[in-house]
Amino acid sequence: MKPLFSILVLVVFCLSCKNNTPVSSSQSKKRGVIAKNAMVVTAREEASKIGADILKQGGNAFDAMFATEMALAVVYPYAGNLGGGGFMVYRLADGKTGALDYREKAPLAAHKTMYLDNEGNVVKDMSTVGVHSVGVPGTIAGIFAAHERFGTLPTEELLKPVIALAENGFVVTKKQHEKLDHYDSIMRVVNGKDILFTKHIKANDTLKNIALAQTLKRIAKNGKDEFYKGETAQQLIRFLNQKGTIMTLKDLELYNPKWRDPIEFQYKDFTITSMSPPSSGGLCLAQIMKMMEPFDLKSYGHNSVKSIQVMVEAERRAYADRSFFLGDPDFVDIPTKELLSDSYLKKRMEDFSFEHPTPSEAISHGEVLGYESEETTHYSIVDPFGNAVSVTTTLNSGYGSKLYVDELGFFLNNEMDDFSSKPGTPNIYGLIGGEANSIAPEKRMLSAMTPTIVEKNGELFMVLGTPGGSTIITSVLQVILNVVEFDMTMQEAVDAPRLHHQWLPDRIRMEVDLFSEDLKQQLETKGYDINEASAPITARVEAILVLDNGQLEGGADYRGDDTAIGF
Ligand code: DON
Repeated sequence: MKPLFSILVLVVFCLSCKNNTPVSSSQSKKRGVIAKNAMVVTAREEASKIGADILKQGGNAFDAMFATEMALAVVYPYAGNLGGGGFMVYRLADGKTGALDYREKAPLAAHKTMYLDNEGNVVKDMSTVGVHSVGVPGTIAGIFAAHERFGTLPTEELLKPVIALAENGFVVTKKQHEKLDHYDSIMRVVNGKDILFTKHIKANDTLKNIALAQTLKRIAKNGKDEFYKGETAQQLIRFLNQKGTIMTLKDLELYNPKWRDPIEFQYKDFTITSMSPPSSGGLCLAQIMKMMEPFDLKSYGHNSVKSIQVMVEAERRAYADRSFFLGDPDFVDIPTKELLSDSYLKKRMEDFSFEHPTPSEAISHGEVLGYESEETTHYSIVDPFGNAVSVTTTLNSGYGSKLYVDELGFFLNNEMDDFSSKPGTPNIYGLIGGEANSIAPEKRMLSAMTPTIVEKNGELFMVLGTPGGSTIITSVLQVILNVVEFDMTMQEAVDAPRLHHQWLPDRIRMEVDLFSEDLKQQLETKGYDINEASAPITARVEAILVLDNGQLEGGADYRGDDTAIGF
């Protein structure tokens, strides 16, 4: 290598290793942060630090979850939240697994056609922006439920560093500034005035959120009920009433998170545990991986034409099933067993061919006997005791509905758009839903969030998840395959270019400028439609890998400000 070129390579490598300690066994292996005892990976350094500090103080993964989730609400209001919801998948040190659903719910007064005009057409922006798009928030109930069952440190203690962060402020990053700039005008329109986040904030400014600190202090004192019945609940409903909401205090009082059985399946030597409905994540991931399992991906190579074909064809079939069968399991019967059975999935791939794509229009949902149809963020934690939690939480779009409760210091979600407002009409992620995901009072909207934990030969192996709307499931899929099939380190697996297919629209989305012209041409020659520019892949994966020597490797996504902190 010429000296100048090698210096350049080294500089690029070091820049891309932000916060990472590369410990490569060979030049080509790039590792993320390595730690002996514990690891927290989140979208922001401040949140990872608060989580890791809780673990250092003797707290467990669930204590860290409680504090980390709230820290993200302070420092990453783009998706971290009090006004949204989420899902947690966990694996205890003794190997027991489980899942918590704290997804938002439709208010009691919600109904199937609430986003349609007199002619039955979807009213533009109604389910995505402003007061009508808000679902009943689940986050505070979720973190308290997780803590009540598994936490060990008092919640007041856990909130202390978070309150200090809100009071003392955090430094706005360049990426954060760009996002705030992007949403500035819509936030003003929705709120009818300036809010904390529209005041010409620049990169490197310190942003304090005193109203949020006050809200958190009341929650520290009064617990979960503060948010669902107390002064905070009253203020929230008063605020929403002024904006013309259908949500009432009763909706808040009725909100309950739910412990669910996660989806568990086997892929070769790996047992994968992921989120069950009302998220489609685990079920779709299972379908896709089981459809891909018979193919020798390793020999085809990473991101080769053949690997991509197998993946895309499995994805389109799973997403077609998603749109027909999946919804809130408390409201619709989901034929989970059949959808995951070997015989069903084998049949589903019968018409697969390496010669040409199967057009999405030729694919509907599969035949299931006896079935009657009637900006998000992820964090992964492994604690020194060996417990693991994988949590994805969201307001849906960036800053949710853009509606900001100044008095309380947080944004409200626009999760109602994850329902199918009208069968056949796509939501903001282009996802098409059916009857199973129609709106009903107290129903949870279908999600794609895929918090996941992988075991290898019965031992903890990987913890991962990501934001990214419809691309969540396929991003989690690719990162797992990158490690288990293509022998990548955790950091390499997170960094590798990603692509996505979701049945409709019938095209492969690819990360811009990361795939070779030759590869794209070969796929196009086969008949695949490729889309780069107009459909960015917004996933930012936070992952932890248990290495052979028992150490942990944190893989934080370079696509955001994401940071792994371990000790
Ligand atoms: O639950 C879902 O699937 C969506 N509300 C997730 C939204 C999301 O990932 C936005 N992030 N880029």
